[in-house]
Amino acid sequence: MEFPVPVISSQLKTTSTEFRERRAQYIALLDELSAHHRRASSPESAEAIATARQRKKLLTSERLEALSDPGAPILEICPLAGMEMYDGVPPGAGIRTAVLTIKGRKCMVIANNPSVKGGTYFPMTVKKHVRAQEIALENRLPCISLVDSGGAFLPLQAEVFPDRDHFGRIFRNQAVMSASGIPQIAIVLGSCTAGGAYVPAMSDETVMVRGNATIFLGGPPLVKAATGQDVSAEELGGAEVHCTKSGVSDHLVDSEEEAFFRAREIVEHLGEGSRGMTPHAAPEEPLYAPEEIHGILGSDLRKGFPILEVIARLVDGSRFDEFKAAYGTTLKCGFAHVLGMHVGIVANDGILFSESALKAAHFIQLCNQRGIPLVFLQNIVGFMVGKEYEHRGIAKDGAKMVTAVATSRVPKITLLVGGSFGAGNYAMCGRAYDPRFLASWPGSRISVMGGQQAAKVLSEIRYGAKKSVDEKERETFEADILATYEREGSPYFATARLWDDGVIAPLDTRRYLALALSTCHFNPDDEYRPGVFRM
Ligand code: COA
Repeated sequence: MEFPVPVISSQLKTTSTEFRERRAQYIALLDELSAHHRRASSPESAEAIATARQRKKLLTSERLEALSDPGAPILEICPLAGMEMYDGVPPGAGIRTAVLTIKGRKCMVIANNPSVKGGTYFPMTVKKHVRAQEIALENRLPCISLVDSGGAFLPLQAEVFPDRDHFGRIFRNQAVMSASGIPQIAIVLGSCTAGGAYVPAMSDETVMVRGNATIFLGGPPLVKAATGQDVSAEELGGAEVHCTKSGVSDHLVDSEEEAFFRAREIVEHLGEGSRGMTPHAAPEEPLYAPEEIHGILGSDLRKGFPILEVIARLVDGSRFDEFKAAYGTTLKCGFAHVLGMHVGIVANDGILFSESALKAAHFIQLCNQRGIPLVFLQNIVGFMVGKEYEHRGIAKDGAKMVTAVATSRVPKITLLVGGSFGAGNYAMCGRAYDPRFLASWPGSRISVMGGQQAAKVLSEIRYGAKKSVDEKERETFEADILATYEREGSPYFATARLWDDGVIAPLDTRRYLALALSTCHFNPDDEYRPGVFRM
């Protein structure tokens, strides 16, 4: 007797008007995304490019290229950070952070862009640097800092200097990582002043470029003001000084090209490193064309979309071995492969009910027992509300799912493919649940609840008990709230503030997942101890 293989059978009508309309809407969203990415990858003005050339400096993108193994894929982290937040600062916040492959080894590279406000640190620059370090720490990736920065952006010092996750955290993280055997390398290509001087000083090994690199706690103007001493930058803390006299740096090189050659040699001699997850099967294309995802999604989330049709276009051979397919059907759980990488998928297909939450908690435990990483596909408006559901204990079942997600030991990757609202965001491994990587699709939305609901709730609180209400005033009140939620629910508002690690196109998702998984450190011998499941 033959049993059916677990391949998703698509019901999508690709010739329908609705499919075509949704596809056109999504392609408009992708055009917008490409424009933002183009701006982030070449943020330099023509004038800044000319200055870099005259100073014999490479542009940031050229620096990354020089460091990377030729042709190796790059996993960029938070490319649109700080977008539209600081006057005159293009998306990226003046820093590039990316996982590069160097001499066959995955490394976290953190590169200041000196042509954006002198490479200084805005609040989102600090947040991005610290996020890159967090990824490096969790996944045991050597860190390579390409230093060329004026340090803290002084006008915003209150938002970059004093708090726990501000500028000081960067140097603390370097020490903590070094102590746990994660190599810290600094390549100094330009200025490194005050706090910034600690990046190379805290590194295990440091390279400086003669003529361009300087390191000092106080620059020449400060020295003059404090001591009356006249000293040039080169004389105070140039590469020659630090590599021959002070010992603050270890390698003196004559050009940026030589610095990157040296950096690659250093990586060659880092010894044994951690290995990311490896493919478990030969990679295979999905049975259905991934481009069709655009026509499934459209731009109006209220219309909904069937998640199995999306999964069918993301996983190898469209094979999805579904777990408890007939139970808690508003959540799909199952095993699949993405470019040969074994994954357990947890994906929303409607509101979360008690049964769907229980199924998720069970499935997450299976993945943890077996050491299979988890991928969450979020398109969630929240948990079911109402007397019947409260009486049946939806809060305790939701808590079981949240417990399973929070205590999971296997790597988790979250994709916001649609809406991400309310407690559903938490149960589906939102940012607060430490997914190793979190990416959003350009049509996604994120907020504590939908704008319409928030407007109604707040309006009810404000006007509900009043005897007479000016309807015009009430309408304006609701419209203002709706407009705020519209603006703040955008994936670009979110990614600018690092609520995710980047906005990616659906068609880049298979590659993104495989790259992210191959970066994830996982020790199968780590103990698995889930918390108490409220019964
Ligand atoms: N805070 C705020 N703005 C700063 C800054 C800082 N720490 N350092 C540089 N900038 C701004 C400049 O005002 C200029 O802004 P503009 O583009 O709006 O005119 C821009 O960054 C570029 O600076 P500029 O000096 O023209 O570029 P440069 O490449 O010749 O020199 C530095 C870059 C970083 C070497 C130099 O600006 C410098 O020494 N800055 C002060 C560094 C410092 O003392 N930092 C202490 C922080 S703890």
